[in-house]
Amino acid sequence: MCGIVGYAGRRPATALLLDGLRRLEYRGYDSAGVALLEAGGLTCRKTVGRLDNLDKLLAGDPLAGRVGIGHTRWATHGEPSTVNSHPHLDGAGRIAVVHNGIIENYQELRAELEARGCVFQSQTDTEVVPHLIAAEWTAGRDFLAAVRAALVRCRGAYALGILNAAEPDVFYAARKGSPLIIGLGAEENFIASDVPAILKQVAEVVYLEEDQLARISADCIELFDLAGQAVPVQPQPLTLAAESADRAGFETFMLKEIHEQPRVLRSLLESHLDVPGGPRAFDRGDLDPAAWRALKQVTLVSCGTAYYAALYGRLLLERLTGLSVAVELGSEFRYAPGKVGPETLFLAVSQSGETADTLAGVRCARARGCRIAAICNVDGSTLVRESDAVLFTHAGPEIGVASTKAYTAQLMSLIFVALCAARARGELTADALAEWDRELRHVPDALHYVLNRGEAIAAIAAKHYEGPSSLYLGRRFNYPTALEGALKNKEISYQHAEGYAAGEMKHGPIALINEYVPVVCLCTRTEDEVYEKMISNVREVEARHGRIIAVVSEGDHQLDDVAEDVIPVPALREELSPLVNVVALQLLAYYAARARGNDIDKPRNLAKSVTVE
Ligand code: G6P
Repeated sequence: MCGIVGYAGRRPATALLLDGLRRLEYRGYDSAGVALLEAGGLTCRKTVGRLDNLDKLLAGDPLAGRVGIGHTRWATHGEPSTVNSHPHLDGAGRIAVVHNGIIENYQELRAELEARGCVFQSQTDTEVVPHLIAAEWTAGRDFLAAVRAALVRCRGAYALGILNAAEPDVFYAARKGSPLIIGLGAEENFIASDVPAILKQVAEVVYLEEDQLARISADCIELFDLAGQAVPVQPQPLTLAAESADRAGFETFMLKEIHEQPRVLRSLLESHLDVPGGPRAFDRGDLDPAAWRALKQVTLVSCGTAYYAALYGRLLLERLTGLSVAVELGSEFRYAPGKVGPETLFLAVSQSGETADTLAGVRCARARGCRIAAICNVDGSTLVRESDAVLFTHAGPEIGVASTKAYTAQLMSLIFVALCAARARGELTADALAEWDRELRHVPDALHYVLNRGEAIAAIAAKHYEGPSSLYLGRRFNYPTALEGALKNKEISYQHAEGYAAGEMKHGPIALINEYVPVVCLCTRTEDEVYEKMISNVREVEARHGRIIAVVSEGDHQLDDVAEDVIPVPALREELSPLVNVVALQLLAYYAARARGNDIDKPRNLAKSVTVE
């Protein structure tokens, strides 16, 4: 989704804006632009395609100035084109605006403005904003009041950066629904859509709140609400280590993040198991035993990869706690909120904490009296600020668009929640808990084992990446793993892939199977008949000449003669097996994408953080 940066300081702004935009590239974009304030007024450069194009444009036709805004656009309204790229200007070219979000009533506003003589250049929703501000400004208000008056008329979501040619030392920022942070430096200040953009530049940040506006210069930050009342500025230290936004020698962020998983899980384990009275579920606002016992239901809400984590969470919570558990997609729940109420723990799972549909689900549940809890990777995100209880996955910035370490951290977090709920509700004996504790501590090493098989997995991917389509099959705890494996594959390798509950294969996808179709079968050993049922499904694939890639528990040779390729992973209890299985599938997708020559960290059309509906 669109990325915004802004700068006011003593240094030339262009290079800083470009550097910030580069660090937001992971969000996904199709065009980019900057606008700067110079002594001579406001100037702007924009272009389609990668930031390199903007870089070249600026090299040939540089912009001077120490105050500016920049943007990477992910098209929603209007095709990717230079004219639709941001910044957008008012008719007189005095006001420039960059925007992330959607102005939902833009058609109505545009019609009104056109009737008043405004001429629009683009097809975007954003362009109404500079025109509206200009209309309010020429009505005699001061600029800040004009911005406020314009924003009050906008429905939808926005994070905005705004320049005014008449005020060469300042820029403005505003937020409703889409994230925006202000970074505080020495004699310079920034804005950005996300921390990595300014991580190396500042030590303190202010998280702009809903319906807040900021007036920012090199030496001063002023905050206001939409009524124009001043709001105190409360900076917070920035705690992420700057190097976590670098590739650390890996060829891509995604590969680096895949390899970070053992460390991420180990530190999660330590911070949740090695605490007095552990395990602990939530880092902030944890539920006491009475609160766990009073619960009647847990409803999980999420999108994308986090939704698959939630599907896993439901299985585990139901198995361990006896609670009734529902899983909802944010985009569906917001329009069809099932039965939730004060006895529901509404648990949102989100890497970014900014996904519009997940947040909408949370607000809907809040209105129905639910207690809101979150499993989230980003402190200070909107979700974290709107939740009563928070479990931080602490995976560090995830830059690769395809989620990897955030997913395994979400699975692990859901294990802590399930264990705590089960213990408080008297469903887990001390011995059983001790056994879980022991086995959980093996997981990081088990992940290392899979990572060490990277080359072998790359060789398997090299054989299969050209297939027309691929199937991923799993049962019970590994059904969500199959869904996630297929998602990884389609996200970065662009090969059509479907994840399926293995028992459902015969109800449709079996028609796809022939000698060209790779079928990834998750054949983890279980203590009951589920394993045998899975093996039967593999035989069904064999009978149709599908190309079987079997992920099996180490030491299991039952499929050696059936599968074209076998990926052994450490044998863990079934509930923990998704943690190792998914790493094998991440690598499989990764090397397939690499064999196809794709841009792995920036897959086409995708956005890291989907802040619009
Ligand atoms: C986008 C990302 C996915 C992510 C999903 C939900 O689609 O590309 O990787 O799973 O959003 O994001 P969240 O930040 O809420 O986990």
